[in-house]
Amino acid sequence: MSDVACCRLPVLGITPFNPVNGDTRFFVLRLPRPSEPAWWRWRPGQFVMLRPDSFGLELPWGRPFCICHVTDGCLICFFQVLGRGTRRIAAIKPGDMVSLWGPLGNGFAMEADTPTLLLAGGMGIAPFVGYVNVHPKIWNVTMLFGHREIQEYYPVNNINEFIPLDGFLEHGPEDLQLFVDTVHERMRLCAEQKGLVLACGPLPFLRTVRDFARALKVRTQLSLESVMACGVGACLGCVTKTDQTWPVPEKRGRPVQICRDGPVFWADQVVI
Ligand SMILES: Cc1cc2nc3c(=O)[nH]c(=O)nc-3n(C[C@H](O)[C@H](O)[C@H](O)COP(=O)(O)OP(=O)(O)OC[C@H]3O[C@@H](n4cnc5c(N)ncnc54)[C@H](O)[C@@H]3O)c2cc1C
Ligand code: FES
Repeated sequence: MSDVACCRLPVLGITPFNPVNGDTRFFVLRLPRPSEPAWWRWRPGQFVMLRPDSFGLELPWGRPFCICHVTDGCLICFFQVLGRGTRRIAAIKPGDMVSLWGPLGNGFAMEADTPTLLLAGGMGIAPFVGYVNVHPKIWNVTMLFGHREIQEYYPVNNINEFIPLDGFLEHGPEDLQLFVDTVHERMRLCAEQKGLVLACGPLPFLRTVRDFARALKVRTQLSLESVMACGVGACLGCVTKTDQTWPVPEKRGRPVQICRDGPVFWADQVVI
């Protein structure tokens, strides 16, 4: 917690990612200068809790968002308009004030010399924008991306700039099967190379990746999502259960908080 900054900031901008019809947006916040030390040490896979003043009394809790990137003193997040909170966030105007807690959680492993396969489903692409920006040996990183909306709704260019990204647009069951088969094949190759797999996306996708990880014995981390309230381990609103391989024996088979102990977990250490 000592490494978490809490601040009130003006929003620089909320940018519709797709000007045509999309419900995805970037928001950009200027961090305090000199930035809080917490922000010097941010890691891709960490997240923030954001609560705009416009939530008023109706929405008491902030909303969690992966950190897409921190650059030039600015925090960038990428989000999809889903419900009441994200609708209000999308309506923020430059200069409106928000409260921000972060960086929160643990972040993904980054091993410069290890072949690393990134697997993203839909909005799960968000943390990998920062990941490919800060990875020191980016030629060791590849990515598969499964999505239901057209690619233009997602920040694929911010990743394509650094690494090859294979996208799979899902229209129906055959497309999904092709994506799943490709994920399996690429995880198999990764296992042969003693590589690392990192995945972020919807729960059914993460379960599939977890099953492949177990069968292929490839080191795999999953970024879990949950509805969150406090975001800092105080409300027990985001628990998941540890598996029998959890490193602390007395905590095996017990609840852990996704916001405090995650959101990134080794695939074999939690029950999802
Ligand atoms: C660690 C973490 C990182 C996240 N990063 C991002 C991100 O980078 N970009 C992004 O667009 N979203 C992200 N999310 C999800 C995002 O927080 C939710 O979409 C948002 O809180 C919804 O708020 P709302 O008030 O608009 O929706 P609500 O009105 O609260 O809910 C609308 C619907 O969305 C469902 N929902 C709410 N929260 C979640 C959730 N966390 N996961 C799945 N379904 C949910 C509700 O059950 C309901 O059906 C992240 C969530 C977590 C926990
Ligand atoms: S959101 Fe409160 S404990 Fe995780």
